[in-house]
Amino acid sequence: MKGVVLAGGLGSRLYPLTKVTNKHLLPVYNEPMIYYPIRILVNAGINEILIVTGGNNAGDFLRLLENGKDFGLKHINYTYQQGEGGIAAALSLAEHFADQDKIVVVLGDNIIENNIKAAVDKFRAQKEGARILLKEVTDPQRFGVPVFEGKKIIRIDEKPKQPASNYAVIGIYMYDQRVFEFIKSLKPSQRGELEITDVNNFYINEGKMEWDLLEGWWSDAGTFESLYSAGQMVAKTGANKL
Ligand code: G1P
Repeated sequence: MKGVVLAGGLGSRLYPLTKVTNKHLLPVYNEPMIYYPIRILVNAGINEILIVTGGNNAGDFLRLLENGKDFGLKHINYTYQQGEGGIAAALSLAEHFADQDKIVVVLGDNIIENNIKAAVDKFRAQKEGARILLKEVTDPQRFGVPVFEGKKIIRIDEKPKQPASNYAVIGIYMYDQRVFEFIKSLKPSQRGELEITDVNNFYINEGKMEWDLLEGWWSDAGTFESLYSAGQMVAKTGANKL
């Protein structure tokens, strides 16, 4: 299994912090944001990792991460996303790297208290399809929100005004090799992006989506409020606990 960290985009919601650097290089308490998603993968036993960068400061990722020795890696792969095409467009750049293998995808601004070892082990044993992680939240309208029929997810709504549940689909996704075929058939959403929620709905329609609840806290860090509160949570409890 291989890992992909999506760290492209322009970070416009964090302007002017992102005027001179990439969002994923900003500090979350005592470390650059991108350290946290990389550790999510490494702590789940994944050591073949691709970073998808973008924007005006992509070269700084190489200077910061080098070949991954701070994470016990011998090598890190990099690729570059032009413009802002959305999460699924960034992921499409990983097709060559994935090379038919299953992948675990982590959004570069997602930070967790613990680890995803148990879910990744279940996905290793899963013959095909996809697997997502859910977390109960107080503000589901900010996220992808699962619609349940019993314990089955029948659909995910992206940023619904009236959420059907109190769960967020967090930015950690596990896919088999069909993900790239699904991405190729996507059309841009209202906000002009290829949405990861549409990819997940493909798997749901085929009855091939599994899910787990994430234990411990989770935060994204793409807005001033969430960047601030993520830093506070890291300072208080630490992140990426084994
Ligand atoms: C993205 C996804 C959303 C998901 C969230 C998790 O939102 O579109 O479904 O719940 O990441 O961080 P965005 O950060 O692009 O607003």
